[in-house]
Amino acid sequence: MNNPLNIGVVGLGAIGGGLHVKYLQSTSNVRLAGVCDSVKEKADQIAAEHDTKAYYDYKDMLDQAGLEVVIIAVPHYDHPEIAIEAFKRGIHVLCEKPIAVHLNDAYRMTEAYDQAKEQFPGLQFGLMFQERTLPFYRKVKEIVEGGELGRLTRATWIHTAWFRSQFYYDSGDWRATWAGEGGGILTNQCPHTLDMYQWLFGLPARITGHAHIGKYHNIEVEDEVTAYFEHDNGMIGHLIVTTAEMPGTNRLEIIGENGKLVLEDGELVWYKNPVSMLKYSKETPHRFSQLETVKTVVPIDMDAPSGHHIVAEKFLSRIQTGQGELIAEGWEGPRSLVLANGIMLSSFQEQTVQVPFDTDAFEAKLKELISQSTYVKKKAVAPTADEDLSKSFGSR
Ligand SMILES: NC(=O)c1ccc[n+]([C@@H]2O[C@H](COP(=O)([O-])OP(=O)(O)OC[C@H]3O[C@@H](n4cnc5c(N)ncnc54)[C@H](O)[C@@H]3O)[C@@H](O)[C@H]2O)c1
Repeated sequence: MNNPLNIGVVGLGAIGGGLHVKYLQSTSNVRLAGVCDSVKEKADQIAAEHDTKAYYDYKDMLDQAGLEVVIIAVPHYDHPEIAIEAFKRGIHVLCEKPIAVHLNDAYRMTEAYDQAKEQFPGLQFGLMFQERTLPFYRKVKEIVEGGELGRLTRATWIHTAWFRSQFYYDSGDWRATWAGEGGGILTNQCPHTLDMYQWLFGLPARITGHAHIGKYHNIEVEDEVTAYFEHDNGMIGHLIVTTAEMPGTNRLEIIGENGKLVLEDGELVWYKNPVSMLKYSKETPHRFSQLETVKTVVPIDMDAPSGHHIVAEKFLSRIQTGQGELIAEGWEGPRSLVLANGIMLSSFQEQTVQVPFDTDAFEAKLKELISQSTYVKKKAVAPTADEDLSKSFGSR
């Protein structure tokens, strides 16, 4: 048994107060050494509920609580500053998604981490991409990496199961504004989808994005997006996402020369070709014939443990033992931002962007949107306390 790690949580809203502090109570080998929220009443309440000390300024917590680990669960614009201050003090960081709003900030974080590691070699930086723990995505990854699909030709992901109401957007004054959140569905709900895309297929070489701003909600950021990705190996990708579909769809089709994988509603179907489609296409003497494919439903252990606490457990275990894989490493964070920022830059510029693109151009555009904003946020309404937070995550 190791000594318990002193952990602090900064940001005690929906995810920090509603989830992180709760599972930490039953996580072995940790002690909640402090909680911090800039809203004093929130910090006091959560500290009292969890028998720990309240802080109202994150630097006070980093300096005074004897922390070894901090979980960052504040709105995205503040992730970089808090992470960088923690790294300077040799405090391990588990940061909520997205790593940051734009790539320049994300790279500042990874550079600060690399620099701090020279002084604190065991320092860890992990990201809360808990969807990577979901059993059906793990199975898809295993099959894609196994290579049985052969050369991949297309991946199409319709992920519209992120329904959000106007009440949701009104429930926090930072939400769905350029200044407060820095984006809409690509910055808040879809970082998981974008991370999963790059985790499975890598980054494309070219991105074409079409984003609709406030099309179905009274917001100033995007709530409906279609993107087209071109990879150097010839594979193409499509992404269709919105917060305005009911019922929503979560359907991922992956096509390779040897068959097709379709993941929908947690069910994974594998269609296997008897020979490579590319070979057959080249060699067959017939004009219209197709080969019989074999269809199987891939068994998945849906009871395998998954979720935020698994990400945290693996993170803490790496710190304590110096071993084991993290669910998502800090350096992987900028990769989903390449997709998110690239799609928006392409949409604003009405042209395809090459990867890597000009990250300063995206940051400048964001600043312009902030300075020219005329959007007036409706006064925030407090969400009902009994709302089921787990409905906001992907589970199928
Ligand atoms: N991994 C997931 O599934 C998941 C789910 C929800 C939210 N998130 C992420 O978690 C972060 C927070 O989201 P949320 O929905 O909990 O937001 P929220 O508005 O419910 O809570 C944010 C809290 O942070 C506090 N805060 C803001 N700035 C602060 C600062 N500088 N110092 C201390 N406290 C500060 C606010 O007072 C608020 O209590 C976001 O980055 C979001 O993308 C991740």
